[in-house]
Amino acid sequence: MNDEKYMAIPPGAIIPGSLPKFKIYVLSPNGHHILWARDGNEVSTKQLTKLADSGLKEVFIDLEEEIKYEQYLEAHLGDILENQGSSHDQKAAIFSKVSTNVVKDSFETSLGLGTMNTDALQRTQALVKNALIFIAESNSLQALAKMIGHDYKTYEHATKVLWFTVAFLRNNPDVIEQIEPDYQTFDEVQKKEILKQCGVGAMLHDIGKVFVSQEILNKNGPLTAVEWEIMKHHPLSGLAMLLDTEIPVFVKKAILHHHEDFCGGGYPMSLEGQNITILARVLRIVDVFDAMTSRRPYKEAISPVKAAQIMVGTPTEKIKMEDGSEQDDRDQGMRQCFDEQLLRKFILFLGKIASGM
Ligand SMILES: [Fe+2]
Repeated sequence: MNDEKYMAIPPGAIIPGSLPKFKIYVLSPNGHHILWARDGNEVSTKQLTKLADSGLKEVFIDLEEEIKYEQYLEAHLGDILENQGSSHDQKAAIFSKVSTNVVKDSFETSLGLGTMNTDALQRTQALVKNALIFIAESNSLQALAKMIGHDYKTYEHATKVLWFTVAFLRNNPDVIEQIEPDYQTFDEVQKKEILKQCGVGAMLHDIGKVFVSQEILNKNGPLTAVEWEIMKHHPLSGLAMLLDTEIPVFVKKAILHHHEDFCGGGYPMSLEGQNITILARVLRIVDVFDAMTSRRPYKEAISPVKAAQIMVGTPTEKIKMEDGSEQDDRDQGMRQCFDEQLLRKFILFLGKIASGM
């Protein structure tokens, strides 16, 4: 048997009563992959209980059927995230996988249309709704902490910005009140709706980057003046793509403003202070934090503590990195970028993540 033909998946991804359109295998004690469930057949609770009792931590699928598996995960995401039999880490990994696919498809299908694809928007909204349920679980912040430090790729970045933004806002209802003054009087459904809209904005904040080439996005070195001008266009392109959608105005504004600096000098309009919509000020912080704590094409990841230090640092101060190198020029001058009060709240929130609250 060729092991490279198979891919391990967590048993918790399989929902009782569902009809996976892919074959599932288990590994025998002598290392052979044995067919456990045929494609298109219902997987019963009894089968899954027996599997759990056997202590197997993983089952397998044909690598060729990975797309069918991914479609299954997206279709059953709500049930998978609520499945008590899976660990938070497994759920977070599944969520990231589904989310990456949804963002990737949203970006790719929208590129050809020049506008946000309706089906992609609905998938994004459904995904954010599921993310909210998961984030609402008390110890999901621990899973969130483990997402810090992964590679920086546009699709994964969008997922992490979604998680951090929504989790941060849930922890800071006074910030949501700046978006919606009546938030505290809302019932649970209305509260979730506001959070969902913020989450959709977080996921789609960089959708305008579909018009920026990979060479510019992943360039290992400083951008030329022309490249920089192209890059600076992405908030406006994002707004243009979402203009005719049902996305609320405050979310569209947040996408347009997410590179504006609190003290001015950001792009595309060089707005200042309260003229920058509050959700954009949150996104500015989360976006930079995730970029700095992820491995970027031109820079190694830094720790959350160092990232926070740089974010609160003065523009002229250079901070020594863990590896002895100096802080990257692109990370300098951060202090004027952020709403200081919000940044303080965000750092307190990071403290909560670190302590696993
Ligand atoms: Fe951006």
